[in-house]
Amino acid sequence: MDKKQSLLLFIFFCFSFLLLLPENTRVYGSSSHHHHHHGHHHLFNFRPSKLFVFGDSYADTGNNRNSLANSWKVPYGVTFPGKPAGRFSDGRVLTDFLAKSLGIKSPIPYRWRNVGIKHWKNGMNFAYGGTGVFDTLAPEPNMTTQIDFFQDITHQKIYSMSDLQASLALVSLAGNDYSTYATTNGSAEGWKPFITQVVNQIVVNMKRIHGLGVKKVAVTTLQPLGCLPRSTFASSFQQCNGTENELVGFHNLLLQQAVVKLNNETKDSTFVILDLYKAFMSVLKNKGKNPGSSKFENPLKPCCTGISTEYNCGSVDDNGAKKYTVCDDPESAFFWDTVHPTQEGWRAVYSALPQ
Ligand SMILES: *[C@@H]1O[C@H](CO)[C@@H](O)[C@H](O)[C@H]1NC(C)=O
Ligand SMILES: *[C@@H]1O[C@H](CO)[C@@H](O)[C@H](O)[C@H]1NC(C)=O
Ligand SMILES: *[C@@H]1O[C@H](CO)[C@@H](O)[C@H](O)[C@H]1NC(C)=O
Ligand SMILES: *[C@@H]1O[C@H](CO)[C@@H](O)[C@H](O)[C@H]1NC(C)=O
Repeated sequence: MDKKQSLLLFIFFCFSFLLLLPENTRVYGSSSHHHHHHGHHHLFNFRPSKLFVFGDSYADTGNNRNSLANSWKVPYGVTFPGKPAGRFSDGRVLTDFLAKSLGIKSPIPYRWRNVGIKHWKNGMNFAYGGTGVFDTLAPEPNMTTQIDFFQDITHQKIYSMSDLQASLALVSLAGNDYSTYATTNGSAEGWKPFITQVVNQIVVNMKRIHGLGVKKVAVTTLQPLGCLPRSTFASSFQQCNGTENELVGFHNLLLQQAVVKLNNETKDSTFVILDLYKAFMSVLKNKGKNPGSSKFENPLKPCCTGISTEYNCGSVDDNGAKKYTVCDDPESAFFWDTVHPTQEGWRAVYSALPQ
């Protein structure tokens, strides 16, 4: 894509992260008690009782409060909890499915930490939509600052060392680092050095989280960015952009090598890869036809889109008239908007994660 197109796409992308703060926002905990656990905890060789989360909109459950943003706008949250609640989806996101599989409630977003210490028992979510390892165009805390928040929390001594030793951290981000690079620099030769910088910083960050006492640190491989609707739009949602996915492949290769190296330096396989890339590809390829998951007619086509390129899912005009369309059945769509999976999409991805 040319510079102008990529700038437009980027703005489009950013707006999907900019939010409005409602007065009452209590949505932690997906709270259904009759769910079955997928049992991914054996991946971690222990059953964590707390989850600490660092990353972007794939993991954010309500931290982002930017006043221009969409995740606090109708129709976000329409499936769960039934109204916009700060998740970039029609319902639950990666963090919720991971928490559920561990048998704990989705951890409280950092922004709501003051509602009461009793809500801290499942851990805490420090992820902010739109952010990256480095600063992005979204004016929200990068991953280093997210870990600073966590460090401040640990200094309050509410979590004991043994609490932290019973904890898992989820790290999920980097897509926004790359969309920022594409917009602000974009030199073709610069990609590989930049990807290397991003992965090196992720490694520094994961070591730091472990150093603060967290027993295990799980990091997601980067999703196939070339398969996001903002990219497949160019082919009327027919095919993924191979060039973008190759760059993602390089990121994931470096990340996997780094995790092998880190585990060689520490005991107990402290660092675990959650292969989001592989899971996305497997769902997109078989259209979600796994046992127990729904089928996605065209998995590359998003459910909720602006009526034209100047609008996004959730856009309204000055008179409040809707400038977006929503598919009849979000449960039959893999992607919710041009970047984020639906709740059913996440459910399928989560159950397709290599165990
Ligand atoms: C794939 O993405 C690259 C980088 O964003 C872009 O230059 C190229 O035009 C895209 N290819 C297609 C077929 O859309
Ligand atoms: C993260 O943000 C902080 C505060 O804005 C800034 O000082 C720091 O340099 C950033 N870190 C990285 C790795 O970009
Ligand atoms: C941006 O691109 C230039 C080359 O055009 C390169 O020297 C520089 O390191 C790049 N910046 C970043 C942050 O990667
Ligand atoms: C693991 O570390 C040892 C030294 O600490 C080194 O000799 C060995 O090559 C490393 N293995 C891998 C797979 O990195």
